[in-house]
Parts: sequence; structure tokens; C-alpha cells
Amino acid sequence: MTNKILVTGGAGYIGSHTCIALHEIGYDIVVYDNLSNSSREAINRTSTLIGQPIEFIKGDIRDAELLRQVFASHQFFGVIHFAGLKAVGESVAKPLMYYNNNVSGTITLLEIMAEYDVKNLIFSSSATVYGDPENLPIDETSKRSCTNPYGQSKLAVEHILEDLAVSDTSWSLITLRYFNPVGAHPSGQIGEDPNDIPNNLMPYISQVAVGKLDKLNIFGNDYPTIDGTGVRDFIHVIDLAQGHVAALNYLEKQTVPNESGVAKQNSIGFLPINLGTGKGTSVLELVSAFSDISGQTVPYQFTNRRDGDIASCYASADTALTLLGWEARLSITDMCRDVWRWQRLNPNGYKKDL
Ligand code: NAD
Ligand code: WQD
Repeated sequence: MTNKILVTGGAGYIGSHTCIALHEIGYDIVVYDNLSNSSREAINRTSTLIGQPIEFIKGDIRDAELLRQVFASHQFFGVIHFAGLKAVGESVAKPLMYYNNNVSGTITLLEIMAEYDVKNLIFSSSATVYGDPENLPIDETSKRSCTNPYGQSKLAVEHILEDLAVSDTSWSLITLRYFNPVGAHPSGQIGEDPNDIPNNLMPYISQVAVGKLDKLNIFGNDYPTIDGTGVRDFIHVIDLAQGHVAALNYLEKQTVPNESGVAKQNSIGFLPINLGTGKGTSVLELVSAFSDISGQTVPYQFTNRRDGDIASCYASADTALTLLGWEARLSITDMCRDVWRWQRLNPNGYKKDL
């Protein structure tokens, strides 16, 4: 059996950390990324951390011809599919771009996988597919609904994967629903590198702490939560990366010898799994933890709630533990420490000069 994995979007934030985790346990990786939200510098640094050059192909998941060439020249065990656009606000302004990239792109990828009989996929979904949850913690059977095109694009892909699994039972389609990924590699060499002003909380806090931004706007302090601010399930990107390794191991374990002793993979169809810690942390709690770790004050002011935000969101992480034997290990302190190291060492992210 081949141990080669195609990693779409492997130059990005979660992809680069996952490449390291995959390499550490002996997978051969090929990164396929159009660099629309990442850089060669991320690939170079990831290669340095791995200790050898990563095989990198600059390409778009909507480019069927190039994908065909890639599948014709490699024998893959499966695909980890990170490639996608992820900014909620931008998706509201440019819905066609989001549907085209995230939905059409995934369809093209699946078509080429089918042509080459590569039927193992790990897809990056999001807790955003749960919308405003009726019950907490959120388990995988919770109702799904989305209010913005980004979320709709993730939900649409989930539906496509479900239909595909019904139509052809030889597919194994693990859908990992990430909660709020934060953190950086402990080396401080790779991490999240948002363009412009960050939309997400953790990179915003770290840019305030390092003095790039004046103060944090906290969107609402009248939610029905511990201190009135939003509660989220922050998960360290290193734990998340290990979750992908665990999902691949799970797929490999489905390969057993048949009556004639020939290795045969039992397919698992569509399998959604939450990747979260199971614990909620409020915005104010995160600000306070970050200040403690960094030794910097993080000035903030309360402003109106942000459109589309929900009060609380945290995972039931039981399925991941039961099926994959995976659970998050790193704490909020670890997350803040690693983000702070990355922020201090790389005040402009991967861009050397601004
Ligand atoms: P990222 O933007 O850092 O990485 C995505 C990568 O995909 C980038 O390197 C980008 O250049 C590439 N890409 C985008 N469109 C492409 C295309 N058409 N063809 C080839 N490459 C393309 O984002 P990330 O935070 O690493 O997220 C990875 C995946 O996880 C995304 O699908 C995202 O929607 C999903 N996700 C992210 C979060 C989060 O908060 N970071 C949460 C839940 C789900
Ligand atoms: C967290 C909390 C904000 C910024 C988003 C996407 C979701 C997923 C993860 C991809 C909320 C508050 C934030 C700020 C603040 N991505 N906040 N001031 O909204 O939970 O999830 O990223 O799939 O789809 O929607 O994350 O980090 O933006 O916000 O007060 O400047 O921080 O109101 O309570 P969110 P976030």
C-alpha cells in the first residue's frame, strides 16, 4: 500500500502544520496549492522543519488537467483537502468566488480522484456548519444550518460527500469539523499569517499585544455566558494536525486481507467528526490568558455584537476519541505561548518587509 498523501492547501496555516505531523510518522507528502492565501516562504520553512524539501506543485483545485497530471504521476493513498477560501465577511461580498473555489473546486478534485480510483478523502469542514446550536456541547448529529456563503460552501460540500458515499460505496470520506483553530508551531517558524487586519480573535489579540494594532474591539458583552462575551472552543493547530494523522491511521486500519490474503480496504462512506477540545473559553478569558503569557496589556473596548455571531460554541469531542483515539492535549496557555512566540519572531508574518 502506498503511503503517499496529496495535501491540497498544504501551504496554508493548518496544512503546513499537518505536513509536519504527517512527515513525522512517515507519510510521503505532495503539496498542491495555488498560493492564493499563502506563500512559498511557508513551504520553505515547513521544509526546513521537516529536514527535506517538500514536493510542491503550484496549482488550483479547479484545474482538472493539472490535477490529472499529478494523479497520473503519483500513486496516492488519499487526499487531505484543506484548499479553500475561509473569510466569512469576504464570502458575503463575493459569494460566487467562494462557491466557485470551495464547491466547484472540490467537485473537480473528487472527479479526478474517481478517475484515478483514489477514494480516501479527509475534508476540512467547520463548526460553522452547526450555525446557532440548539444544544451544547455540539455533537455530530446536531442540526446543520449556515447563514453566510462561506458556511454554505462547507455545508454544500458535506452534502455532496454524503451523496457521493451513497452513490458509490467504495468511498471513505472523513469530514473533520474544526472548532476554532489557533496556535502556532512551537519553533515559532510557522503560524497563522492573516492578510490585512485579522478577522479572527487570536491573531487580533496578538497584533494588539505586539503593538501593531491599538486595541481590541470585543463584539458584545451581553451574551448569556460566564462574563457576557462570546465563548468558543479554541484548539491548538498542533492538536488539529494530529487529528488528521489519527484520521489517516483510522482509514489505514480499514485495510484488511481478504479470503485470498490480498489487502482490501473496507470503505467507511461519509463520516463527520468534530475536532475540538470540548471546553469553552470566553473572549475575556482568552485576552486575560494572553496578557499573562505575553506580559503585555491588551487594551480593549466593548462594541456592538458582530452580525452573525453566536453566544457559545464548543464541541463534544467523544467521536474523535472513540473512533480515532484522538483527543486534544494542549491548553489555552500553550496556544497563547506559541502564538506569542510566532508573533514576536515574525511581526509581519511571512512577509519580510512591509
Ligand atoms: P489557509 O487560507 O491558511 O489555507 C488554505 C490554503 O488553500 C491556502 O494555502 C490557499 O492558498 C489554498 N487554496 C485556496 N483555494 C485554492 C484553490 N482553488 N486551489 C489550490 N489551493 C487553494 O486556511 P486554513 O486556516 O489553513 O484552513 C484550511 C481549511 O480549513 C480551509 O478549507 C478552511 O475553510 C478550513 N477551516 C479553517 C478554520 C480556521 O479557522 N482556520 C476553521 C474551520 C475550517
Ligand atoms: C471568536 C469570538 C467574536 C474578533 C470563525 C468563523 C468560523 C471558523 C473559525 C472557518 C467571537 C469575538 C472576534 C474580534 C471579538 N472559520 N471577537 N473581536 O467567529 O467563532 O469563527 O473562525 O471555518 O467559520 O466564523 O471566530 O475568532 O472570529 O471570533 O470580540 O476582533 O471572538 O465575537 O465571540 P468565530 P472568531
